[in-house]
Amino acid sequence: MLYKIGESPEEIFSTLKHELHRAALDKKHPFRFVVLSTSNFHGPDSRYVVIRAVNEHLHFFVFTDFRTEKVKAIQTHPMSSLLFYHPQKRAQVRIQAKTVIHHQDDLAQQYWKKVQGEARKAYHSILPPGAPIHRPDEAFSWKDTLEDASFFTVLELIPSSIELLQLNGLEHLRIRFNCSNNEWTGQWLAP
Ligand SMILES: Cc1cc2nc3c(=O)[nH]c(=O)nc-3n(C[C@H](O)[C@H](O)[C@H](O)COP(=O)(O)O)c2cc1C
Repeated sequence: MLYKIGESPEEIFSTLKHELHRAALDKKHPFRFVVLSTSNFHGPDSRYVVIRAVNEHLHFFVFTDFRTEKVKAIQTHPMSSLLFYHPQKRAQVRIQAKTVIHHQDDLAQQYWKKVQGEARKAYHSILPPGAPIHRPDEAFSWKDTLEDASFFTVLELIPSSIELLQLNGLEHLRIRFNCSNNEWTGQWLAP
């Protein structure tokens, strides 16, 4: 259980923050891989991404390539959602967030320094992600220099609402936190 009946919204929010911060620190944490959903003119789209950092305001940071479909979707529809599930604690976390694209700015430069060696190839392919190819190995070519950060992009997700569902037999616990003026307040909901 992530939380139990009898705990206050403040206690639950504090536990939740702790677990979300651990997602970025612990490579085995179940919250490390998260479903990021975006929408475009054709409708919704979802994919897994890695949580690379979480700051003290609970902003989430994800790395990607500027040429991906998710970046195009966010450029026109900046609201997105993150969906986590912790199988051992049987808890679901749904987050609605405004997403800011950091491309060739100070924040992207700062994170680029932390991506070292071969890991940089993930943001260096010659062909853009999603380009149609005849054979898989056509895509395995990268720029000569791994210094160039021209495609490297950091997505900053700024949550406006966080909802938790704690599975618990027939007595599930559901609570939603909304953020106003940097203050989070909890509201219990029928599951
Ligand atoms: C476990 C897992 C983690 C992933 N992490 C990332 C990531 O951090 N950033 C990213 O751009 N793509 C990541 N991907 C690939 C995306 O799911 C997706 O296939 C790719 O980014 C293209 O998505 P798009 O066309 O919707 O933009 C990951 C895939 C898996 C299965």
